Amino acid sequence: MYKIILKKALTDQITQMNVYAPDVVKHAKAGQFVILRVDESGERIPLTIADVDKNDGTITIIFQVIGKTTYLLNQKKENEYILDFVGPLGLATNIDDLQNVLVISGGVGSAIAYPLCKALFNQGTYVDLIAGYKSISQMILYNEFEAVTHHQFYTTDDGSFGKKGFVTDVLKTLLEKQTYDHVFAIGPIVMMKAVSEITKLYHIPTTVSLNPIMIDGTGMCGGCRVKIGNQMKFACVDGPDFDGHLVDYDNLLKRNQMYVEKESKDFNEVKSRGDHHE
Ligand code: FES
Repeated sequence: MYKIILKKALTDQITQMNVYAPDVVKHAKAGQFVILRVDESGERIPLTIADVDKNDGTITIIFQVIGKTTYLLNQKKENEYILDFVGPLGLATNIDDLQNVLVISGGVGSAIAYPLCKALFNQGTYVDLIAGYKSISQMILYNEFEAVTHHQFYTTDDGSFGKKGFVTDVLKTLLEKQTYDHVFAIGPIVMMKAVSEITKLYHIPTTVSLNPIMIDGTGMCGGCRVKIGNQMKFACVDGPDFDGHLVDYDNLLKRNQMYVEKESKDFNEVKSRGDHHE
């Protein structure tokens, strides 16, 4: 059992939890994730390690309530327990020898982009950030990003903060004036696809972080398979980072859509049960 030491609402839909898991803390690196199960009847979901605190032995997870499992997780309060919390899983992001990097995040993808920016910044890499959100009310980790990046560019769909529009608008403008050794894109699949199409034109190596359906997290179930070039890979053991120029995004979108539909059906059921009990 893993104790929730801190619970904080970052927006009306996004929650941060710090979970006491010293064994996971010991080995965790940027880019890795945990698979958790809220209780015996719960499904396993992967969540990226957003931060670690070596002093108090906690792992920070940040999640958006999008389905049944995240809804149930969000019902948990401080000092309550999560049944399973397995990790760190996946390969750490390769950040060796990078001098000049652009990190692009979208929505709750910022929870993955933040530890990456921090790791890059701490090793002396020059890091610029483009972070996109629907609206100012959905922005997360603003102060944290400011502390670990050199320049920040923000976009919102409704223009309530930063530039109105998409991260790709800022990306195009930036690449007209300067270049980067490497681009990381983390967020909705359509965003990562659009970013990768642009960086390909500029021949900038690009890494994306994929978040397909995961069940066991050990490479056995095949749930997280993704098509990379003409190879099948498992995001849980071969990723979650992949070459953005090789990912078959349409295949990934299709598979994730099936899962989202099931989660939202289960979510409505569990929510209506909860509402009746209130
Ligand atoms: Fe089962 Fe990756 S989650 S193979």
